[in-house]
Amino acid sequence: MFKLDNKVAIITGSGSKTGIGRKIAETLAKQGAAVVVADLNAEGVDDTVNAITKEGGKALGVTLNVTDQSSVDAMIEKTLSTYGRIDILVNNAGISQKVTTQDMTLEDMTKIFNVNMFGLFLCSQSVLKTMKEQKFGRIISLSSVSAKRGGGVFGGAHYSASKAAVLGFSKNLAREVALDGITVNCVAPGLVNTEIWKSLPEEDAKKVIDSIPMGRPGEPEEIAKTIAFLASEEASYITGEEIDINGGSHMD
Ligand SMILES: NC(=O)c1ccc[n+]([C@@H]2O[C@H](COP(=O)([O-])OP(=O)(O)OC[C@H]3O[C@@H](n4cnc5c(N)ncnc54)[C@H](O)[C@@H]3O)[C@@H](O)[C@H]2O)c1
Repeated sequence: MFKLDNKVAIITGSGSKTGIGRKIAETLAKQGAAVVVADLNAEGVDDTVNAITKEGGKALGVTLNVTDQSSVDAMIEKTLSTYGRIDILVNNAGISQKVTTQDMTLEDMTKIFNVNMFGLFLCSQSVLKTMKEQKFGRIISLSSVSAKRGGGVFGGAHYSASKAAVLGFSKNLAREVALDGITVNCVAPGLVNTEIWKSLPEEDAKKVIDSIPMGRPGEPEEIAKTIAFLASEEASYITGEEIDINGGSHMD
């Protein structure tokens, strides 16, 4: 099930050692995909690539700034010259900031949207030509429970707004490319057990846990496995959808 042999997958933001993106890259590689590990953090890129190749997986590292058109173009060129196709794009790169709306500056808002939405737009647009020619593609983007619930633990209103924009953008794009063999979907994680969660003071962590019916944060691999499903042939008739992965903390 969920085999990705002969597929090529780009995962943005996959250079964070404890992050969700790295787990996505490792999981898709385990399912047989050749993965492109793309991140602003060059050292992190090398680290993820080494971890994957050590396990016998196929990985290519690219230093990428999702907000920069020439950087995105260079990543696409490198992917195509190395692997000759692009089947899967996972828009995972994202940033957050804890700030109230009263204290938020326009610069704060712009910075969050630049990465979480405009960067996601540049990356999504950049794979369309190839995916259309192939008559196959999967675009999967990381939204967040905070887009739907009015905030999360770590972000501000700008973060929630950017992640809500990701949902709207993805649904629109899903309609546009539905006849081209391309599906476009989102996952909306709740709190995930990454570095930022570990940094939370015990008392605050307890409050958060108490609000999650399953009584624990999600694990990065639980997000990654859902993405492996959406990327696979088994998910061929799912498009314009978002999957909540939040232990029951928000139920639509
Ligand atoms: N951790 C959570 O609880 C949680 C919950 C819901 C959604 N998410 C979303 O999941 C995704 C991954 O989150 P994470 O917690 O693993 O974050 P993380 O900070 O561990 O990883 C994000 C990665 O994105 C990279 N990045 C940032 N700006 C970039 C840019 N301009 N170009 C390229 N790469 C860039 C960073 O270098 C980093 O490696 C994000 O989109 C986040 O909003 C996370």
